[in-house]
Amino acid sequence: MRTSTQTVRVCLIGAGRAGKVHANSLTHHVPGGQLVAFVDAAQESLESAGEQFGIQQRFSTLNDAIEWGQFDAVVITTPTFTHKELAVGAAQAGKHVFLEKPMALNVEECDAIISAAERNGVLLQIGFMRRFDPEIAAAYERVQAGEIGTPMTIKSLTHGPGMPPPWARDLRTSNGMLAEVNSHDWDSVRWFMGSNPQRVYSEIANFKGARYQVDTPNFYDNVLTQIRFESGGLGSISGICPCEYGYDARIEIVGERGIMQIGDIRGQAVIVGTNRDQGYVTPIHRTWPQRFAWAYIHEMEHFIACIQKGEAPSATGVDGMWAVAGVIAGTRSFLEERPVLLSEVLSPAKAD
Ligand SMILES: NC(=O)c1ccc[n+]([C@@H]2O[C@H](COP(=O)([O-])OP(=O)(O)OC[C@H]3O[C@@H](n4cnc5c(N)ncnc54)[C@H](O)[C@@H]3O)[C@@H](O)[C@H]2O)c1
Repeated sequence: MRTSTQTVRVCLIGAGRAGKVHANSLTHHVPGGQLVAFVDAAQESLESAGEQFGIQQRFSTLNDAIEWGQFDAVVITTPTFTHKELAVGAAQAGKHVFLEKPMALNVEECDAIISAAERNGVLLQIGFMRRFDPEIAAAYERVQAGEIGTPMTIKSLTHGPGMPPPWARDLRTSNGMLAEVNSHDWDSVRWFMGSNPQRVYSEIANFKGARYQVDTPNFYDNVLTQIRFESGGLGSISGICPCEYGYDARIEIVGERGIMQIGDIRGQAVIVGTNRDQGYVTPIHRTWPQRFAWAYIHEMEHFIACIQKGEAPSATGVDGMWAVAGVIAGTRSFLEERPVLLSEVLSPAKAD
């Protein structure tokens, strides 16, 4: 594995919403990393991000950036249907890869990305920033230490404001909300359970599509998924988007000896009471960059430190693959109206 104690030079591919969050971390919060180039297929996004972050090296394609070549790693924050080609291309050029969730469209694409990284001796980290959130990371340590005993049931929810862009709600380009909004929940329930999912059942509902004039096939704005794990434990994932009231991400774990609740619907520890008819008023988390601000910084610190030390990142390609497999099984479940075994969607070697 190639290692470097020098500053890690990063080329960011996809200067949209998530791209700017990572550009901000690299520019202001992660001294070991240096943002040196942007790639974006849309000229306007490229120019505006370049101006915002003072980056002169701007390319329309990854191949153009690779030809220039003066960087060690890529951060890929493009739509899901582009992930495989970009991640494999970067790995083949010998660049370490930070790849946003969902890792790819299907298990075969995940496998191709994992083997390209292995073959070319580069690191691969998936954007499961919740693992680096101070509250979630502390809770994980306490579960590992046995404080609530063996996890029996884990519930994880993500409810987000705002209608996702067309590519993110279309099953053909992203696998829809279970992927775009709930990938993090898939990773959290598996990580905390310490076991792989075995069987999945999902129900969906569409309350607001007509109001937002969404005609995407199979669009849904509510999903509930039940999971049985190999350990015998149970999980559930709730997704709602758009949910109007704010950004809400919480986890509840019931173990053999206790319960742990992680996350708060309140965005600040402030409660104001001025009117006894209205009761209390408290701010709520408004957006995902706000709720997980520290998590995005810490995951990028981890990626850069892993490159410098030559260590494997803790949110791996295999973790990304399992989240994608869960999404595919959950989607097949509501499309075919039946429980789906993970062995139906995994490649034969993994399903054994
Ligand atoms: N970890 C998180 O919490 C989080 C939050 C939001 C988005 N994401 C993920 O980040 C990725 C991007 O989402 P987004 O909301 O930032 O999307 P976005 O639409 O805001 O931005 C995507 C950008 O990629 C560019 N692009 C598209 N195809 C390209 C290509 N082939 N080469 C170069 N540039 C290309 C677009 O022009 C656009 O500027 C998705 O995988 C999404 O799931 C993760």
